[in-house]
Amino acid sequence: MVQEWIMKILFVTSEAHPLIKTGGLADVAGSLPKALLELGLDVRLIIPKYQALQTTEEIYFKSTVQVNNTKANILETRLPGTQVIVWLVDCPEFFNFPGNPYLDEKGNAWANIAERFALFCRIVAEVAMNRGYLHWTPDIVHCNDWQSGLVPALLSLEHKRPATVFSIHNLSYQGLFPKATHTLLNLPGQLWNTNGVEFNGMLSFLKGGLACSDRITTVSPTYAHEIQTADFGYGLEGLLSYRKDSLSGIINGIDAEYWNPETDPSISSNFNASTLNKKLLNKTALQNRYSLSVGNNILVIAVISRMVEQKGIDLVLKCLPEMLTLPLQFIFHGRGDKHFEQQLNRFAKAYPDKMAVIIGYEEELAHLIEAGADVFLMPSRYEPCGLNQLYSQRYGTVPIVRKTGGLADTVVDALPETLRDKTATGFVFRKATCGTLMEAIKRALTVYGQPESWKQLQVTGMKKNFSWKKSAKEYLALYALLSPHAQSPQK
Ligand code: ADP
Ligand code: GLC
Repeated sequence: MVQEWIMKILFVTSEAHPLIKTGGLADVAGSLPKALLELGLDVRLIIPKYQALQTTEEIYFKSTVQVNNTKANILETRLPGTQVIVWLVDCPEFFNFPGNPYLDEKGNAWANIAERFALFCRIVAEVAMNRGYLHWTPDIVHCNDWQSGLVPALLSLEHKRPATVFSIHNLSYQGLFPKATHTLLNLPGQLWNTNGVEFNGMLSFLKGGLACSDRITTVSPTYAHEIQTADFGYGLEGLLSYRKDSLSGIINGIDAEYWNPETDPSISSNFNASTLNKKLLNKTALQNRYSLSVGNNILVIAVISRMVEQKGIDLVLKCLPEMLTLPLQFIFHGRGDKHFEQQLNRFAKAYPDKMAVIIGYEEELAHLIEAGADVFLMPSRYEPCGLNQLYSQRYGTVPIVRKTGGLADTVVDALPETLRDKTATGFVFRKATCGTLMEAIKRALTVYGQPESWKQLQVTGMKKNFSWKKSAKEYLALYALLSPHAQSPQK
């Protein structure tokens, strides 16, 4: 009997929505595997079993794997609401503590973060080599960000190994540790060289992924170019341009069911592109909730973000005094650097009817804000892809973005010609200065004063297809290039 060959993908991640999330990587890891499964691939996700990991699905014991002197159990569950199999690396001595994947309960980086993710990578490498007693050998191991960077490095030392893909979601987080950590982790000596994990005399998990994987991807075509330059490369631009033939940018998709204003259970009033008047009910609800003066003549600008320099929060703070002189209201939701949080809170205190600041991390609130705001502001200094500008367009919330990375690839600036040919979806500015940001905001105010043009912007954005379908097919094509079986799928 001819058995259909199905490509097997082990998807390695440190976070995945809805199990555990700190940012966009979780959104990608929670939705791309589902899209790949729908394309007919056998995808399994592997992630540490953190104490904070939450699931409604059942969890089963599968096997025990030992690396060096540490044992970990492999537990099996499903990505909630999907058929995607998830393997949880359960090693309580490393992961059974309160906190998130990167920070402890007090918000400090885990002191043993190198050990935590080195153990994770080692277990993943065992599973990838079918030494995890799971009776499953992947064709492709798809790793994401520095936390899984040692996987391609460890696999590069194996004789018959699966192909490896390493995706960069953010090049500035590198997993850099002193050389002594290499010794402490007892990593193979062969990896300690500039074609391995060594980076300027330090141990770099990220470098392991970049140097040792068969292919590198990042999450937008523009970021794929930017990271080959000194401005965005964090010293790795040389390696990345050297590997440019193995590097490509594939734009992120979104979970279009979960981020759907027509069915979203978290928002006050569901709407679509034909019932945009109902979006106004969400705006009023938001203004009421945060005691902002209620009215449709005021443009509500939202920011939902990690409060860090990457996201241009410093630029926003610099421009706020001028912005607050205009008929605008602001809703900031996020957490991050304390000094940004404090400064934002000070503004909110001084302008309670114009500005609300909600420090924290609330998934539901992110949906409420997306539904109720008029504008989503993302003045990022760099942005590998960015997801909120995509969610915003789906919710008729017009993005104002800086022209960088995925923001440049996914927002069409409202210029006379793009307004005329109805392709515009937002406002784009180039330089990270108050002057250029203010100009974009004033342009938005002008178009907001022309309800027909504003509605056109909203509708064009809402009708764009940001689902995973197209991008998942690009990953599939990439995997097929690497898979030894791909040329003869039936065997
Ligand atoms: P990054 O991954 O760099 O933080 P992205 O735009 O790719 O940026 O993704 C951020 C994700 O995290 C989005 O789903 C966004 O809604 C979510 N998010 C960020 N901050 C918060 C917050 N404070 N509360 C809820 N969701 C948040
Ligand atoms: C990172 C990037 C963000 C991207 C996300 C998912 O956190 O900062 O731009 O959208 O990963 O790929």
